[in-house]
Amino acid sequence: MASDDGRWEIRPNGEPVGQNGLRPEGRAETREAGREENREGTLYGIGVGPGDPSLITLKAVQLLGQVDHVFTASTSETEDSLAGNIAAPHVREGVEVIKLVFPMTVDGKRLEEAWLKNAKAVVEVLDEGRSAAFLTLGDCLTYSTYAYLLRYLFDLKPSAKVVSVPGITSYQLAAAKLNRPLVLGRENLTIFGGALDANFERLCQASDNLVIMKPYRDMAEVTKKLKDLGLAGKTALCANLALAGETIIDGLDQPHEEPSGYFSLLLVNKREEG
Ligand SMILES: C[S@@+](CC[C@H](N)C(=O)[O-])C[C@H]1O[C@@H](n2cnc3c(N)ncnc32)[C@H](O)[C@@H]1O
Repeated sequence: MASDDGRWEIRPNGEPVGQNGLRPEGRAETREAGREENREGTLYGIGVGPGDPSLITLKAVQLLGQVDHVFTASTSETEDSLAGNIAAPHVREGVEVIKLVFPMTVDGKRLEEAWLKNAKAVVEVLDEGRSAAFLTLGDCLTYSTYAYLLRYLFDLKPSAKVVSVPGITSYQLAAAKLNRPLVLGRENLTIFGGALDANFERLCQASDNLVIMKPYRDMAEVTKKLKDLGLAGKTALCANLALAGETIIDGLDQPHEEPSGYFSLLLVNKREEG
């Protein structure tokens, strides 16, 4: 069945979908989450923002108050979940935030088993007609566990209903803290994981602006390389943004002590005015 103006149609499963494949604006929100009687449940991938609890989106808050289950990624049963803590005040009463353990290991078989087990836990919920949220820090589709979970989920259940809800990324917060545009006019911006591989130098030279995520593995070598490329003065190192121990070093050409934790990223802006 199509709407009068032909802008959207009702699919046989009762789902309203616009011509562009999206739900028509303003219709789906009240029925998106929560128990879905006699229907397949929906998984909501929710980015809860970069760490500051006030940087969660209204949509995320709304959905967290409706879903039947909330999952979050953790490297162990006992590890505190930052995303879980940010989400907790918004979660419907009686709904527990369940940690899915994704072990930090290079053992492919162990990883594969964990991914599969976690995807199965989500599928089980959806098959019961219940809705679930899977939380990630920052944005849910930017270097996120959720993206891998989706892969396994769709393998197990190609028809799974999934809605991804974007969140504010860590590098957006970094730019905001510096009051510095990420990208302007005809400039380009490259975002990459900071491994010092063959691409590192090429990307640094080719881009006007860089976001180097996850440089923690070889921070000293990465910052040395940026110095060698003449970019130290144009680089801001941002660590633990909105978290305890927040540190921003604006200009790596200044004497400084380098923080080396997991929650660190580098912003490079080559433009003259900074
Ligand atoms: C697995 S990625 C997750 C990225 C996240 N989904 C996002 O949208 O920002 C983890 C990396 O994001 C960056 N990051 C995340 N939160 C951060 C924070 N609060 N402060 C600084 N860097 C952060 C760091 O580079 C960290 O190694």
